[in-house]
Formats: sequence, structure tokens, C-alpha cells
Amino acid sequence: MKKVSIIYWSCGGNIEILANVMADSAENLGAEVTLKHVTDATVEDVLEADSVAFGSPAMDENNIEQQEMQPFLEKLKDLPIKNKNCVLFGTHGWIEDTFMKFWAHTMKSYGLNLIGELIVKESPTKEQLKQAKFLGEKLAK
Ligand SMILES: Cc1cc2nc3c(=O)[nH]c(=O)nc-3n(C[C@H](O)[C@H](O)[C@H](O)COP(=O)(O)O)c2cc1C
Repeated sequence: MKKVSIIYWSCGGNIEILANVMADSAENLGAEVTLKHVTDATVEDVLEADSVAFGSPAMDENNIEQQEMQPFLEKLKDLPIKNKNCVLFGTHGWIEDTFMKFWAHTMKSYGLNLIGELIVKESPTKEQLKQAKFLGEKLAK
């Protein structure tokens, strides 16, 4: 059974919706899923998982959320996570894809193997929810 960890930061709920859809679809494929707001997450959640997903809105001048998500991810920098499969998902209010490009670049530099990205303007559309479901399945395979 694949172990999948989905760790996110959300205030208004848009990221949380995507996280829940991914978790449900991974679980439906038989994965053991850990779904946590980053406040409750530990690095062990990442280390022990076969694949991980991180979700954050664009905040603080088009970066990922800086108070909790950024410090959490920075802790992964020197940990043995090389080649672990990873999905990134983000929402934004007004920027387009620069936020995701920069974030993906950083996570690749930590050694993660990016298997999917999803970027959504505010609330996800039906099509974007389908994409989230697909990414959840990818995490579980
Ligand atoms: C304090 C704050 C700062 C934000 N900063 C940005 C930003 O720099 N760039 C951007 O595109 N959107 C920005 N947004 C919009 C959020 O990325 C967007 O509303 C997102 O969908 C929120 O996700 P959530 O509902 O999961 O919390 C900001 C929103 C808030 C509340």
C-alpha cells in the first residue's frame, strides 16, 4: 500500500478543497493518506511517505505562504527526500504562473521528483477538480 502525505496551508478554503479531492482520490486507489494543515504536519509525515503533495496559495508578494509553509518546506532541504514523488498545487488571486514556476524550481532543487502541478485562480473549476482527482491518483500509483 502506498503512503501518501498531503500537506497544505489554507485560510479561505480554496487550497483545502483541492487537498481534500486529492486525498479522496488517492484513498480510493487504496493509498494510506495523511492529510494535514501544515500547522499540524511534521517532517516525518514527509519522510515516511512514498509520495507527497504540498499546497499553498500565493501570498506575501506572490510567494508561497511565508509564516508556516515556507519554514516547513525549508526544513526538508537537507533531509533524505531525493527522488520522492511530489505534487505541488497552488491558488492565486492575480498572478499567473510565475509563483508556481519559482516554487517548482525550489522544490526540484531539494531533490524532489515533481510528478504534477496544479495552479488555480481562486476557487477551482469543475475541470480543475478533475485535475486534482487525477493528481491524487498519480500520488497513489
Ligand atoms: C493576505 C493575502 C495575501 C495575498 N497575496 C497574494 C499575492 O501576492 N498574489 C496573488 O496572486 N494572490 C494573493 N492572494 C490571493 C490568494 O492567493 C487567493 O485568495 C487564494 O485562493 C487563497 O487560498 P485559500 O482560500 O486556500 O486560503 C492573497 C490573499 C491574502 C488573503
